[in-house]
Amino acid sequence: MKMKSILAIGLVCLVVAMASAQITSDPLAFPANFRTWNHTHTNLIDDAKDPFYGYHNVYVNPAGSRASIAGGTYPEGSKLVVAFYGIEKNGTLITQGKPLAVALMSKDKSKFAATDGWGYALFSPDGMAKPIDQAKDCHACHESKKAADFVFSSYVK
Ligand code: HEC
Repeated sequence: MKMKSILAIGLVCLVVAMASAQITSDPLAFPANFRTWNHTHTNLIDDAKDPFYGYHNVYVNPAGSRASIAGGTYPEGSKLVVAFYGIEKNGTLITQGKPLAVALMSKDKSKFAATDGWGYALFSPDGMAKPIDQAKDCHACHESKKAADFVFSSYVK
C-alpha cells in the first residue's frame, strides 16, 4: 500500500474516532446506564392531575455521589436523574407502574453557564429527547435551590 493511502486511512480513522468521542461526551446524551448509579431516594406524587404524578426514583452518577451524600457543590461531570413511573394499586399493595419519563441534570460549567452550570434534558423511557426550554421549563424552578447547588434531592440513607 502506498504511503499516501495509509495516511488517508489513518486520517479517516482519526476523524471517526473524534466524532464518536464527541457523541459519547455529550453531557445531555440519554444516560442509558443510570440504573447502575447510586439511588438517592424515592418520592411519590399520588395525584394524577399533578404534572409530576408518579414515583420519582432519583439516581446520581459516581462523579456526583460525594456531593449528594455530604452536600456542597457538585463537581464537573455530575449527573442526576429522576426516573418517573406510574402507580399501580392492588388492595394495600402499591407498586411502580410503567415507566413514564426520565429527567436529567448534567454539570458542565462552560457549556451551561446561562443556567448556573447545569444542563437539563427530558426523555421518554426509551431515551428519545423531548423538546424543552432548559431555562424556562427546568432551571426557573431549580433556581430556588441555589443554596444546594440547584439540586432538590438529598441522599436518604
Ligand atoms: C416546579 C418545579 C420544578 C420544575 C419546573 C422542574 N423540576 Fe426538577 N425537581 C423538582 C423537585 C421538587 C425535585 C425533587 C425530587 C423529586 O421529587 O422529583 C426535582 C428533581 C430533579 C432532578 C433530580 C435532582 C434534584 O434536583 O433533586 C432532576 C435531574 C430534575 N429535577 C430535572 C428536571 C428537568 C430536566 C426539568 C425540566 C424539564 C425539571 N427538573 C423541572 C422540581 C422541579
